[in-house]
Amino acid sequence: MVKKVYLIGMGPGNLKYLTLEAVDLIKRLPLFLIPLKSSKKTYLTEKRKEILYKIRKDQNFKIVEIPFPERKRSFQYKEAVISWRRKKAEILIKVLQKESTEEAGFIVWGDPSIYDGHIEIFKDVQKQIPIEFEIIPGISAFQILSAKHKIPLTKIAGSLLFTTPRGLKKFSEIKENTVVFLDNYESYRKFNQEDLKIYWGAYLGTEKEVLLSGRLSEIKEKIIELRRKLRKENGWIMEIYFLLPEDKIKDEE
Ligand SMILES: C[S@@+](CC[C@H](N)C(=O)[O-])C[C@H]1O[C@@H](n2cnc3c(N)ncnc32)[C@H](O)[C@@H]1O
Repeated sequence: MVKKVYLIGMGPGNLKYLTLEAVDLIKRLPLFLIPLKSSKKTYLTEKRKEILYKIRKDQNFKIVEIPFPERKRSFQYKEAVISWRRKKAEILIKVLQKESTEEAGFIVWGDPSIYDGHIEIFKDVQKQIPIEFEIIPGISAFQILSAKHKIPLTKIAGSLLFTTPRGLKKFSEIKENTVVFLDNYESYRKFNQEDLKIYWGAYLGTEKEVLLSGRLSEIKEKIIELRRKLRKENGWIMEIYFLLPEDKIKDEE
């Protein structure tokens, strides 16, 4: 049975974004657990494997793909996510009990602490079987986006908000710098503030990377048109953006 799991943040899809700590672990661990889900999701699984094979030339290791179920759509969003995570914990426990190596790596997209449920899942696993886990931080998608656009995210005495479309729904106006993950709904279209800038990026760190930035009111339609085209061409899209109210930008300029 596996006794220790390393949750390894692999960055957002490119080998060059792995930390040395992640690389050292990948070089020595005997077993890697990779979540297997349903176009985009296959890509995410394959990318994880590609990174393992690039670092680990000896092939003397095992990969176990874990068939996690899709989340059931529900109006009770939080409850649905909690029950989905519980199911994932049950599946993981079976895999961990079956495998014979003492240690394993679990490869997580970006950083494990940002919009990712695996820390909670492993805490749940730990309540049920004796196992240790350690977190290896990774570069998150938002860091690549700020680097590519060459912008600081925090301003003097300012705050930074991380959210998703569910969080954005609560605001009629953006007052603080905001990072938006997981938006499949073009939620920025509802903001008509003249002072708002958007910094948008898709497929960051990959060969398909695209960046756009400007005043939201001026480039909204361009982003919408582009993302729909890319989504159609590729079958999936992975995008992230910042909404920055302009008075804060002026402070800095
Ligand atoms: C489930 S969250 C995981 C975030 C991850 N833990 C991180 O730290 O970046 C997936 C979302 O992260 C963002 N994302 C992750 N990788 C990305 C990339 N390479 N390009 C653009 N957005 C990305 C997208 O908003 C995507 O829908």
